[in-house]
Amino acid sequence: MSDTNKTAKLTIGDENYDLPILSPSEGPDVLDIRKLYGQADIFTYDPGFTSTASCESAITYIDGEEGILLHRGYPIDQLAGKSHFLEVCYLLLYGELPTAAQLEDFESRVTNHTMVHEQMHRFFTGFRRDAHPMAVMVGVVGAMSAFYHDSTDIHDPWQREVASIRLIAKMPTIAAMAYKYNIGQPFVYPRNDLDYSSNFLRMCFSVPAEDYNVNPILSRAMDRIFTLHADHEQNASTSTVRLASSSGANPFACIAAGIACLWGPAHGGANQAALESLKEIGTPDRIPEFIARAKDKDDPFRLMGFGHRVYKNFDPRATVMKESADEVLDLLGIENNPILAVAKELEKQALDDPYFVDRKLFPNVDFYSGIILEAMGFPTSMFTPIFALSRTVGWVSQWKEMVEDPTMKIGRPRQLYTGAQARDYVDVEKR
Ligand code: CMC
Repeated sequence: MSDTNKTAKLTIGDENYDLPILSPSEGPDVLDIRKLYGQADIFTYDPGFTSTASCESAITYIDGEEGILLHRGYPIDQLAGKSHFLEVCYLLLYGELPTAAQLEDFESRVTNHTMVHEQMHRFFTGFRRDAHPMAVMVGVVGAMSAFYHDSTDIHDPWQREVASIRLIAKMPTIAAMAYKYNIGQPFVYPRNDLDYSSNFLRMCFSVPAEDYNVNPILSRAMDRIFTLHADHEQNASTSTVRLASSSGANPFACIAAGIACLWGPAHGGANQAALESLKEIGTPDRIPEFIARAKDKDDPFRLMGFGHRVYKNFDPRATVMKESADEVLDLLGIENNPILAVAKELEKQALDDPYFVDRKLFPNVDFYSGIILEAMGFPTSMFTPIFALSRTVGWVSQWKEMVEDPTMKIGRPRQLYTGAQARDYVDVEKR
């Protein structure tokens, strides 16, 4: 960030205020209002943060108009096509692509932390079997601060590093355990000779009664899904992680808060909701009926997997995801998948409709991911846990960036108060 030497002038009554304008390395300039309240005794009002930069960050950049997503400067399509998830994790965490030796060391550190404390198995079995895996993940990840208390001191760089690696390494194990517990199968321990995605698939789909060989094509598709979800700058769950950590809370508690936020259908829960909507539509001839419902202001129905707060042209992750959906179904020999047919026709019809065009509503990353995950064998309830495990590295990187910033302050927004004015208490017998 640099000072542009430009200022904006704000006039309130007879008073004038100069507000500095800051220049980012990419994207629009930012009006610095940090001193505004102190100088002018006035707050800004921006519910939903539609015009507010909540922090300074050097991790991810999005240009919503152009459909650009960069991690540390590298475009997402290049990372999804040429890199792999653990390399992207390294990039997000440390700022640069690793050398071969750095990557080997990082992979071995992650691999060595894939197992969870044995006592955690008992913690899992305290949940009802029919609990949603996201409910289990919120609880178990929060409980990591009890199981891994030796990496909760945020002021110790070594503990921060260990906590980061633990979270990235154990999240697939935790997500797979939540799944296995839900379907009544035994937990499967991680295998450290497998890569990150293959290990996750094996922990989800193998059973002790028979051998399981990971299909490398599915493993590659899984890795790509992880990569496409790895980070997305200051979205709701990441902002939740940052706000929680601004108080100095430990990393496991902060990531649990992020998981809780991600679960909502307007955010990470949309992948489950999108596939459920596509199934509800069922056949292409019913699409007009659902498009009409989405447009009807008196109907709360929305086309899940459509629209994005930031992308107003296309979601670059959706482009890769759509290609992946074709590839995976093709490779699995699933021809003429009826849900994929509905999805493609729905996209076509919506993009021809002035309601969607005018509001710049396009398929987002969640529109096609569910089709791939279902083809791989995951139930819809596992879609959001898979998003959570992929996003963990983004949350961790943003958390680390924040706590390592010496100027970190507790996040404490103000409000536009519209409640009762000060009044005197009335004794109960006089009310
Ligand atoms: N279907 C129908 N209409 C929509 C949709 C949709 N999916 N999304 C937005 N609109 C309309 C909305 O009714 C409003 O219309 P009007 O201006 O006439 O009142 C206009 O578009 C703007 O909507 P908004 O809710 O003000 O936009 P937002 O930026 O606050 O919301 C969103 C963004 C993603 C929450 C929203 O588009 C949505 O609910 N989409 C469906 C859920 C979804 O797919 N979420 C996943 C987001 S990508 C993955 C992630 O980051 O988690």
